[in-house]
Amino acid sequence: MSANIVIFGGNGDLAWRKLFPAFYNLFINGFMPEDFAIYGVHHQKMEEKEFEKHLLKGIDTFSRSGKAKKNQWKKFTDHVFYFQGDFTVDETFEGLAGILNQNDKKWKKRGTRLFYYSVSPRFIEPISVLLSKHGLMTESAIDKIIVEKPFGSDFQSAQTLNQLLTRLFKEKQIYRIDHYLGKEAVQNLMAFRFANIVYESIWSHNYIDHVQITVAEEIGIAGRGNYYDTTGALRDMIQNHLLQLLCITAMEPPVSMDAEDIRNKKVDVLKSVRRLTARDIDKNVVRGQYGEGSVGDKKQEAYKKEKNVNPRSSTETFVALKLFVDNWRWQNVPFYLRTGKCLGRTTSLIVIQFKNIPHNLFDTKAMVDRGPNQLIISIQPEMEITLLFHAKSPGVKLHIEPVEMDFTYKESYDEPVPEAYETLLLEALDCDASFFMRADQVEEAWKVVTPILEAWKKEKAPRFPNYKPGSWGPRAAEELIKSDGRNWVLLPEDGAQKNKVKKVK
Ligand code: BG6
Repeated sequence: MSANIVIFGGNGDLAWRKLFPAFYNLFINGFMPEDFAIYGVHHQKMEEKEFEKHLLKGIDTFSRSGKAKKNQWKKFTDHVFYFQGDFTVDETFEGLAGILNQNDKKWKKRGTRLFYYSVSPRFIEPISVLLSKHGLMTESAIDKIIVEKPFGSDFQSAQTLNQLLTRLFKEKQIYRIDHYLGKEAVQNLMAFRFANIVYESIWSHNYIDHVQITVAEEIGIAGRGNYYDTTGALRDMIQNHLLQLLCITAMEPPVSMDAEDIRNKKVDVLKSVRRLTARDIDKNVVRGQYGEGSVGDKKQEAYKKEKNVNPRSSTETFVALKLFVDNWRWQNVPFYLRTGKCLGRTTSLIVIQFKNIPHNLFDTKAMVDRGPNQLIISIQPEMEITLLFHAKSPGVKLHIEPVEMDFTYKESYDEPVPEAYETLLLEALDCDASFFMRADQVEEAWKVVTPILEAWKKEKAPRFPNYKPGSWGPRAAEELIKSDGRNWVLLPEDGAQKNKVKKVK
């Protein structure tokens, strides 16, 4: 196999922090094709050497395998080139077409082509039109574009964007990326659910009381005020990452691991999410914005004071909501989702809380904690799956207490874990779109959140800030779940569980 890879925005932040380190790790681990070339396209004038120096700094800082080794770096840079070009003019694409065709001739084979849009959304249209016009995407089986989020800003704009792209390219050539789908623990969720029989029979409203999905971050908006202030947590995280996690948790077993089969089942989940009425939004959706304070011992200024943020901004940095998936499996099982910036700790968890036992045989003295069983799937920072259940502690008297059984990647494997972008880029090179989003999937996800955006537009400006950095969001988020007689769950190590839970090995 041979591959021509073109990164529009090749000198930008995403390329620097994520894409080049991912390609570098794929290269040193022997996953890149024998013949390949990567072009970083950017409008700035830059010498090849200067570009390489810049990339090396990124790799030394962000690569999971640490600083680049001299000889490996040298070999990698033989495949990497800077291409100065404006994304909106013909010459750029004529130039690229010439180079790519030449490479194909040299490699004596038409290589696969991957065009990565690491650009602001306004460039999606000109790049697509010009790629098509200059015949750069003609082999529909192997030529593809990767489009980063945000994919549209609501249902209407996502649909318009899909119409534009599918007019120019075949749907199978369009890879809409959500990096959460490349995370090892997220990919493992498919294995966990569909390579095991034990959970299937209890994976439904018959045994599950509710599901929680938390993606919490300690960091604030990390200097991305321009982007974030027009986006907010609902569009930035819920519409994509959290709804994708919901899809994998709730989907039916696919017919096969074929991309279309997997994506069909995910779309079914999104289509089944009960549409929120104005009343539901009022009752079941909480938004927040952080004020001034500190996260751990790090001082944090108020969101409104961040660079490039409107000092009167009503953009949300936190969202919690309750959804229902109206299908046979999940009838009346609430899915609580929450995400936010500047929260108590960085953690991404899926919690499956089972129903209580139907009848308790033990007296209350013997059973110290009658909490229900929980399955906690931690995606990051630790990758682990924990099952909380009850056991009799040793002794002549009956005493039952909660214990936990853990599967952790750290203890089970010595192999390093690839970065999400490595996995997804390799899948794209291999033309496997299973973990990329199809047009209807993105649109269905927007259908879930667009009513909330519209309702918020009509409401008067919320009283922000309403939560302190380092907390777990606004009080209303606690009440959202508490009023249903439930609590947000964190891993026991997070100090959220009162009892020190014993580990079972
Ligand atoms: C991005 C969001 O998609 O995901 C960011 O734009 C967020 O705001 C990031 O910080 C979180 O990704 P991860 O992999 O660090 O959990």
